[in-house]
Parts: sequence; C-alpha cells; structure tokens
Amino acid sequence: MAAPIIDIRHVHRIFETEAGLAHVLHDISLTVAAGEFLAITGPSGSGKSTLMNILGCLDTPTSGTYLLEGLNVAELDDDELAEVRAERIGFVFQSFNLLPRMSVLDNVELPLVYTDCPRREREQRAVAALAAAGLPADHYDHRTNELSGGQMQRVAIARALVNDPAIILADEPTGNLDTATGRMVLETFHRLNAAGKTIVLITHDPSVAAAADRVVEIRDGRLHHPAEAATSAPAVAPVSTPAPAPAKGVSA
Ligand SMILES: Nc1ncnc2c1ncn2[C@@H]1O[C@H](COP(=O)(O)OP(=O)(O)OP(=O)(O)O)[C@@H](O)[C@H]1O
Ligand SMILES: [Mg+2]
Repeated sequence: MAAPIIDIRHVHRIFETEAGLAHVLHDISLTVAAGEFLAITGPSGSGKSTLMNILGCLDTPTSGTYLLEGLNVAELDDDELAEVRAERIGFVFQSFNLLPRMSVLDNVELPLVYTDCPRREREQRAVAALAAAGLPADHYDHRTNELSGGQMQRVAIARALVNDPAIILADEPTGNLDTATGRMVLETFHRLNAAGKTIVLITHDPSVAAAADRVVEIRDGRLHHPAEAATSAPAVAPVSTPAPAPAKGVSA
C-alpha cells in the first residue's frame, strides 16, 4: 500500500491557559490515504478544529509526530510551513472567510498573488477553480457580499482549489448552510474527491459525515475509529504511550 498522505502518531495538544493546562488532544493516531474522503465528527468542544489546525500546519502538536506526504512537519521552519500550507493544502471554513468588497475572481486569485504565477494565468486558474466548484460564470464579477451562502462557499472552495492542493481540509463547511445547499456543497466535495483530491471534512453533523468514505469520531479529545472496531488489526498498533512533553508556548 502507498504511504499515507497524512500520518499522525500519538499526538497530544496541550494549551497553556490562565486557568492552567488544557489537555485538548490525547494520543491521537490517524492515517489518511491519498485520495481518501475522511470525515472527522464529534461534539462541540471535542477537539475537531484543534486537530484540523494541526493537520493544516497552522499549529503544531505538543508531542507526537506528523508526517505530511512523508515530510516531518516538526522539522520545517516557518517559511517551509507556509509553503506547505500554500501549495499542498486548501482550507474551507464554516464562515467562508472571503473578502466582501472584492470580486469573486479577485478572491479566488488571492492565494496566487504571492506566487510568481503571471497575471493572465492567475485569472485562468481562478476561472477553472470556480468552474470546478460549480459557480455559474455570470457571478465571477460580483462582489462576494452579493452572493448567497451556498455561492460564497463555492467561492471559498474555488479559492482552496486554485493552487491545485493535494489535500482539502474543510472545517464545518456546511455549518452555515441550509440542508439543500449543504448537500450541493457536499456533492462538490465528492466531485473533487473523484478527481483525486484527498478530503478531510470536519462536522458535528452525522448526516454530513455519512457522505464520506470513512468516519472517525473525536470525543473529549480522543479519537475513535468506529469502522475499525469490528476488525482485528487497528491501523496503528497500540504501543505504550510516553508521557507527553511539557507544553510549549501557545502557538494557535
Ligand atoms: N488556543 C487555545 N487555548 C486554549 N484552549 C483551547 C484553544 N483552542 C481550543 N481550545 C479548547 O480546546 C477544546 C476543543 O476546541 P475545538 O475548537 O477544537 O473544538 P471543536 O470540536 O472544533 O468544537 P466546535 O464543534 O464547537 O467547533 C475546547 O475546550 C477549547 O476551549
Ligand atoms: Mg470547531
């Protein structure tokens, strides 16, 4: 079997807060195969976004390892991390995070502005990403604050796609959408997955999670692999867990 695209082992995340240490992620081990569509589900406050921030190299584990496409993330400096985020990962959030006064096209081109991609090619790639995300072409000149929620999320998906990342990380992408619109956005993820993208979708909604190939659940910062419970061999053999290293500075 090919090496997993995401491979995290024995990850802990401990935040330093005024009230003391908050041990949010406990001994999380998870692999995601290239081309897989994984859903991570769990109740509010269980640690989903904390895990997503680590998967997206926006935060680093307090202890444990993360190999992204075989690369040990802990060994990358800030510039290299920024490069990995920009080139390998597309992010989609619940609140879309678009710039309201800019046009749809300008929003989608934004991740390319800081690269050496020529202006003309930036626009071509943005148009292709918008088409892949399913936004009708007569909306490309609109300001994003003139769009519906579902249209805004398509723009956000296009922005996540414009760098042609291997992985799309989506944190509650349907959380602000009505059921029918959410279903359309999920269909978009399915199409992208069929075209080869690895998708990790975070949701507290089991009916949204059911759209994925595989579902894992976080409860109180611990990961549960329901589908694997029935099989004899877990993906990562349990080993005795070393005590987590002392918390380092809060970097989230
Ligand atoms: N930077 C931080 N410092 C301290 N505690 C944090 C920090 N980030 C998250 N937490 C805590 O970690 C826990 C998990 O938060 P997280 O945002 O990962 O939950 P979630 O599963 O994404 O919840 P929701 O479904 O509501 O988005 C919460 O108790 C939260 O208060
Ligand atoms: Mg969250």
